[in-house]
Amino acid sequence: MERLGIGIIGAGGIASAHASAWLALSDNCQLIAFADQDVRRAQERAEQFGAQFWSSNPYDLLARSEIQIVSICTPPFNHAELAIAALEAGKHVLVEKPMCCSLEEADKMIETAKRNERLLGVVFQWRFTPEFSRIKTLLEQGKLGKPFLAIMISFWWRTNEYFQVWWRGTWEKECGGSVINHAIHHIDFLLGLMGDVKCVWAGVGVFAHEIETEDAAVATVKFANGSLGALLASTATYPEEHRVTIYCELGSVSLPWQMNLVDSRYQSELEEWLRHIPRPEHGGHMAVISDFLSAVRTGRKPLVDGNEGRRSIELAVGIYKSAITGQPVNLPILPDDPFYTKSGLTEAVKAKRKGICS
Ligand SMILES: NC(=O)c1ccc[n+]([C@@H]2O[C@H](COP(=O)([O-])OP(=O)(O)OC[C@H]3O[C@@H](n4cnc5c(N)ncnc54)[C@H](O)[C@@H]3O)[C@@H](O)[C@H]2O)c1
Repeated sequence: MERLGIGIIGAGGIASAHASAWLALSDNCQLIAFADQDVRRAQERAEQFGAQFWSSNPYDLLARSEIQIVSICTPPFNHAELAIAALEAGKHVLVEKPMCCSLEEADKMIETAKRNERLLGVVFQWRFTPEFSRIKTLLEQGKLGKPFLAIMISFWWRTNEYFQVWWRGTWEKECGGSVINHAIHHIDFLLGLMGDVKCVWAGVGVFAHEIETEDAAVATVKFANGSLGALLASTATYPEEHRVTIYCELGSVSLPWQMNLVDSRYQSELEEWLRHIPRPEHGGHMAVISDFLSAVRTGRKPLVDGNEGRRSIELAVGIYKSAITGQPVNLPILPDDPFYTKSGLTEAVKAKRKGICS
């Protein structure tokens, strides 16, 4: 099979993680072009990573027939527009998290991928950790008994300076704050382990930054499997802490890795059993990109496809809806719900700011 051509749209911070991974897989692919509305950035990245072409216009990149896969590394507000354009141009698309800004956008992306028979993948690198595969296997095989409680702590520390970048901290461009852009990694991890959420009740606020979007959020959820969950997310919390713990009948298991079982003999037995679970070959973006490349080459689904990426968008929207209305919210959020669209969510945020909802 010929090497697949790669184009990267958005040549900022995260683009280099994509470029490095595509380059490391150069037996099977070739980095061809960068596009960034700031053409100097596109040129710098192209020169840094040995790509032949650069442009200020992403549509120039999409017009190149030698490109079969596009990495989208722009801010969240244009993920949907660019992904849809790339899929319509016949490219496979790997889009950075968050997948997009609304369920309406997610559904259009998924539909466009399906209609064009192209693959759509979303970057959630924590799904490729040894912790994820171990906990998933333990839960699927019922080794810990039934899960009944999940705790997620997604505490990040970001300064006001961090939010000076033009798109960050705004509803229009970042489409939310600590929930949709930071905790989304842990939300995806948790949903990948625990399955769908049925109901969410949440509060959000902005406390430590001069930004529009929330820098702290608390949510309680009920999963379809009957378990409860308590989710904490913030970009104003020092020191940082990242933890997901699932409590089950026989003990608990966590990211970062910890397993504490009530029966110590069973603990040793399970630790031995876990040694036989294969460890992921790669971590970080390398893992996501290598999985996506292999999916395109073999025609299978990527580990985190559009439908998987949509799940964390739905819970984030549920958290915002609950915080804005002050009510518990049942999922799924359907197309006739105003919060299904980005404009519905942003109008509700504005109305709340004016004191219409209290
Ligand atoms: N997976 C992760 O761990 C991870 C880490 C950091 C960022 N991200 C995600 O990556 C995305 C980008 O973040 P970043 O930190 O690289 O941002 P950034 O601001 O450093 O880079 C974004 C680039 O996109 C360009 N751009 C914006 N709109 C464009 C358009 N229409 N056409 C062409 N170029 C355009 C900008 O000029 C900028 O250079 C965000 O969605 C962010 O959440 C993911």
